[in-house]
Amino acid sequence: MRRLVLAAGAALLLAGPALAADPPSVDWSKVDWSKVPAKTITLFWPGQSSYQWLRSSEHKRGDRKVAQGAACLDCHEGEEKDIGEKLVKGDPRIEPAKLGGKPGANDLSIQVAYDAKFAYIRAQWKTQAPRPGVAYPMYRFDGKDWKSYGGPQLDADVQGGKKPAIYEDRFSIMLDDGKVPLFAEQGCWITCHNGLRDMPGEATKEQVTANALLGKELKKSDVRKYIPGTRTDDAATWSATKSKADIDQMMAKGEFLELMQWRAHRSNPVGMADDGYVLEYRNFDAGKNMFSSNMDAATKQPKFMFDAGKAGVKSLRAEDVGKADKPQVLVKGQNDVAFDPNAGWKEGDLLPQYLISRADSTGSAADNANVKGEWKDGTWTVQWARPLNLANPDDKALKDGGVYTFGFAIHDNNITTRGHLVAFPRTVGFGKKADIQAVKLN
Ligand code: HEC
Repeated sequence: MRRLVLAAGAALLLAGPALAADPPSVDWSKVDWSKVPAKTITLFWPGQSSYQWLRSSEHKRGDRKVAQGAACLDCHEGEEKDIGEKLVKGDPRIEPAKLGGKPGANDLSIQVAYDAKFAYIRAQWKTQAPRPGVAYPMYRFDGKDWKSYGGPQLDADVQGGKKPAIYEDRFSIMLDDGKVPLFAEQGCWITCHNGLRDMPGEATKEQVTANALLGKELKKSDVRKYIPGTRTDDAATWSATKSKADIDQMMAKGEFLELMQWRAHRSNPVGMADDGYVLEYRNFDAGKNMFSSNMDAATKQPKFMFDAGKAGVKSLRAEDVGKADKPQVLVKGQNDVAFDPNAGWKEGDLLPQYLISRADSTGSAADNANVKGEWKDGTWTVQWARPLNLANPDDKALKDGGVYTFGFAIHDNNITTRGHLVAFPRTVGFGKKADIQAVKLN
């Protein structure tokens, strides 16, 4: 009996949640994907091909043209698979990591439709693992304290065999409406720089906290994606930051990129994707995300655990991570209960690092409220309804009659930061000619 209940719970998790109650709601039955042509885009492993590397003499015969604003596809059309497979095996210039067995490329199928209210995007790709990547690093009780357990494949401890590889699958969209110079030609690469996490010359916490903008003003301790215009030098060096006033002016002019991520652990269980933007840093939109930390800063203990009555267990063990018959995600109001420090914790007990809540998400950060991913027979299918005509200052409004440049990426099989498979930029047209033509629905 209990088995049955657990299996049903797991099926619900994989099938995605019901979306009925939330305004503005989407009538998915209206979207007939068989009438929307699919475009296949090859995603590939980019290694550490940063903005700075692409303009260096190591990018032979490409560097000068790239600096002059040439499009990657001018020279690399059809080469995605070859580039990815070469780099993922290790490359003396731009791939120091050991990625044994990771594929260098993957096909992404993209369909886009729209009506008066939403753009509908369907993305499909095969996963490397024979299961959906819904697990995320956890907190592990060591007999005394709760410490981080598991990590993405590029983490030094995972590379060194000291931690297991655990991370959520993701599907990301970066887009621009023509306001950010070079995005149409060079796509996501203009946001990828030396100094970022897991990139050459990764900035130390001390360096970042000493930086006038990132450390002193924004209280950051690492460097994440940024657009070149937020820096003062031609090389767009991470530390050569402009002032907060200059950044605010760029923002007001719409000179930033939309960046949204569907997350198999931190957003999909509540039918959402996150909503962010790239300017001087990779920021989240105003409001509150659907995921929040499960660590109580004062007690240094988790805030919530699984409700054993609903989830079957109060916590997991190492062998349960990623298993379909065990809860992988702590969802507020569904399977959570307040953490009980006296619940008889044993060394090796595991609890999630995040609490996921649709009801707690607010504001512009909660715009992607109709996104559902389903993993079946080795393939993720993500259906995403993005509201049109958004008026938030931190969003790029998609409009009927508009053409936009999109960059797509997936994080597959326990990896984060630069460990994604990425696409050269493509245009998407809503009632306008483009690489991907959105189909208008009646
Ligand atoms: C003017 C042509 C040209 C343009 C434009 C260009 N590249 Fe290249 N790129 C090349 C050539 C040629 C090579 C191979 C260099 C070699 O053999 O060492 C290369 C190599 C690479 C490599 C290393 C993989 C390999 O096969 O050695 C990556 C990654 C890459 N380019 C990415 C990009 C990206 C991203 C852009 C756009 C920002 C871009 N390139 C624009 C010509 C170009």
